[in-house]
Amino acid sequence: MSKIIKEFYTFDDVLLRPQRSGVFSRKDVSTSAQLSKHINLHIPLLSANMDSVTESRMARFMAEAGGIGIIHRFLPIEKQVEEVRKVKRAENVVIEDPYTISESASVEEAQKFMKEHLISGLPVLNMNQKVVGIITRRDILFTENLNKKVSEVMTKKVITGGPKTSFSDAKKILFSYRIEKLPLVDSKLRLKGLITLKDILKQAHGSAVSKDKRGRFLVGAAVGVKEDTLERARALLDAGADILVLDIAHGHNERALNTIKLLKQKLPGMEIIGGNVATAKGVIDLIKSGADAVKVGIGPGAACTTRIVTGVGVPQLSAIFETAEIARKYKIPIIADGGIRNSGDLSKALAAGGYTAMIGGLLAGTDEAPGEYILEDGASYKLYRGMASREASEDKLRIDGNPPIGGDGPYRAAEGKSGKVYYRGKAGNVVGELIAGLRSSMSYLGAKNLKDFQKNAEFVRISPAGLKESHPHDMKST
Ligand code: XMP
Repeated sequence: MSKIIKEFYTFDDVLLRPQRSGVFSRKDVSTSAQLSKHINLHIPLLSANMDSVTESRMARFMAEAGGIGIIHRFLPIEKQVEEVRKVKRAENVVIEDPYTISESASVEEAQKFMKEHLISGLPVLNMNQKVVGIITRRDILFTENLNKKVSEVMTKKVITGGPKTSFSDAKKILFSYRIEKLPLVDSKLRLKGLITLKDILKQAHGSAVSKDKRGRFLVGAAVGVKEDTLERARALLDAGADILVLDIAHGHNERALNTIKLLKQKLPGMEIIGGNVATAKGVIDLIKSGADAVKVGIGPGAACTTRIVTGVGVPQLSAIFETAEIARKYKIPIIADGGIRNSGDLSKALAAGGYTAMIGGLLAGTDEAPGEYILEDGASYKLYRGMASREASEDKLRIDGNPPIGGDGPYRAAEGKSGKVYYRGKAGNVVGELIAGLRSSMSYLGAKNLKDFQKNAEFVRISPAGLKESHPHDMKST
């Protein structure tokens, strides 16, 4: 028999009660957050795996801001892989393909090359492509005869590291030998990369950036539940993706559970975010299948029509409460996905139990999101579309031949909308405002970190009059 269970709430139904606070400066609070079993972020934000939100440019921005971007999967495998690679190549502490010079080149050639490429030193290779030395500007500075060969002036005793030398080991080696460049070589002395002191120092200043062990930006990528999933997942991980997101509207579905089990079994060590669900049972089944984090949200998103088309969904705040309570017992973090329109919503989502939050519509209007600018009646917009919209589904069909969601008969049950959102300038504006609002909220609750924020949070239920009072009123904006 069907039954009505209880009342469920969402962001506008509640407010956070202020608490006694010892936090004086909003800068005193830490926004560091757990994304999954093994990955932490500096800010609790993910950009959504949607084709109008996250490709490499947005993912690079998100990592730089301390969060993470998830590259969408509405691309052929090789294109999605290339987007991951672009993120991994950017701001790299390990230069994967460094410039080199031959030992038989002249000092003059080396000098010209360094000037042209604005670099201060070059690994020197012999005929067999083995590293035999290193030449720096300093070596050249004291060479009067520029016709001399590089082999005559280079430093022959080169300190090197193995191909997989970590960022912190490289730092130790550079500091202890007081050198500026560390070539990474394999057992046959073939060059596999280069780490420079300059990049390490730059890294140290940007300590709130999301980086992997090798100093590269963190990035995630989405996979579906279709036939190519394993191949796609493998290719994304080979390209350096740090975490995968299982992208399926109903994550509490046998296919989703089996896909997670399969990926976990075939790709050991990989981190995967399961979802989307909105119930405790959904969380338990995803965790038992191997999910390292669970994404929560059925229908709250700005471009979602799932609740209207199917009548199915759970108001987002209650969905977060219910799922977070159970996930906490398994020590698995929840990602609040969808429906966040401002920093107040973000604060409520995290206070209710979300460890991090995924953002779509708010970021779609920024420069870093893919897509054209639309100018209409003097206002600027960018395209934003639900990934289950008819338009996105038709594009997907063109890309990989998979029929759109809801079958391929004449009546397709699209569960998303395609439209436009206001242009918002740089993504830094959006993320900056979200995090500033969150910090402020934490200080109202006397919380110096997100764990205490959840602990101290007390929600009050408000009436429609309370909501009206919350918004600016009785004045005209200028
Ligand atoms: P916001 O509110 O940030 O939400 O724009 C982003 C989230 O919306 C979800 N999403 C969809 N949900 N139909 C849906 O019901 C869709 O077509 C659709 N596309 C995206 C997704 O979880 C995303 O992160």
